[in-house]
Amino acid sequence: MKLLAVTVSIGAAMLVMTTATSYAAGGDAIFKKSCASCHYTDGPAKEKTIADQLAKKGPELWYAGSKFQKAWLGAWLQDPKPIRALKYNSLTDKNKGDHPKSSAADAAALTDYLMGLTSPEVKAGVIKAAATPQAKQIFNKKMPCGGCHATEKGGGLSGPSLVGAAKRLNPDWIYAYLANIKHFKPVRDMPDFGSVLNPKDLEAVAAYVATFE
Ligand code: HEC
Ligand code: HEC
Repeated sequence: MKLLAVTVSIGAAMLVMTTATSYAAGGDAIFKKSCASCHYTDGPAKEKTIADQLAKKGPELWYAGSKFQKAWLGAWLQDPKPIRALKYNSLTDKNKGDHPKSSAADAAALTDYLMGLTSPEVKAGVIKAAATPQAKQIFNKKMPCGGCHATEKGGGLSGPSLVGAAKRLNPDWIYAYLANIKHFKPVRDMPDFGSVLNPKDLEAVAAYVATFE
């Protein structure tokens, strides 16, 4: 509605504005048609119970714009490779790696749409990727991260692989996610480290995960 009002009042800018709008709207429409059956895009209120979660075959995407790096997202949608070793919502079935593939044009429109979905919980520009000895100690020794997550050196299968997190995930999102897991994953079994680690340690671990090649 806001854009409409602007296009009416500023005639000269109309063509540009209309083009930008229809591009984003295209991603929205493609998503509704091809993706919404498996992914939620409405905010934290939606996925609160196991039943809500089981109603969708894939992870919630309502904070996709805060979580992912744009270049990774655009490329992955065209050539999706498994992130989770096990099928989403299963502790036994293998991920078959059969995620739908998008054309380059669809992937661009979908990426624009998804990058617009953000969470106010994620503060921008705070966490910078860094592998400090303190963070390595926490990830590899003090905390059981590697029991559930694969890194380049191997590791558990029950959580998403963190291989390539440096290119896939936004460091600020990793911190926000670890600090406030219930906001992002109300019903998944990623443990609540926000109540176990102090904020400095959480920052260090988030910065460390953000270096994973
Ligand atoms: C049949 C169900 C299904 C459909 C349809 C589907 N997805 Fe997915 N999607 C999944 C599953 C399952 C995963 C988890 C894959 C993995 O971890 O390897 C996933 C993962 C993703 C991820 C990564 C999410 C994360 O948090 O790791 C993105 C982004 C995504 N899908 C976008 C889309 C888009 C865009 C479409 C429409 C073109 C789409 N998906 C269609 C089931 C689906
Ligand atoms: C008991 C198993 C378990 C442990 C221990 C664990 N995680 Fe997780 N982790 C999970 C699960 C399950 C998810 C979310 C599953 C999903 O989205 O499919 C997750 C999600 C994540 C994500 C988001 C990844 C993504 O692509 O969505 C990050 C980052 C993460 N964990 C980091 C850590 C760190 C750092 C530690 C140690 C301090 C840790 N985890 C310990 C199970 C675990």
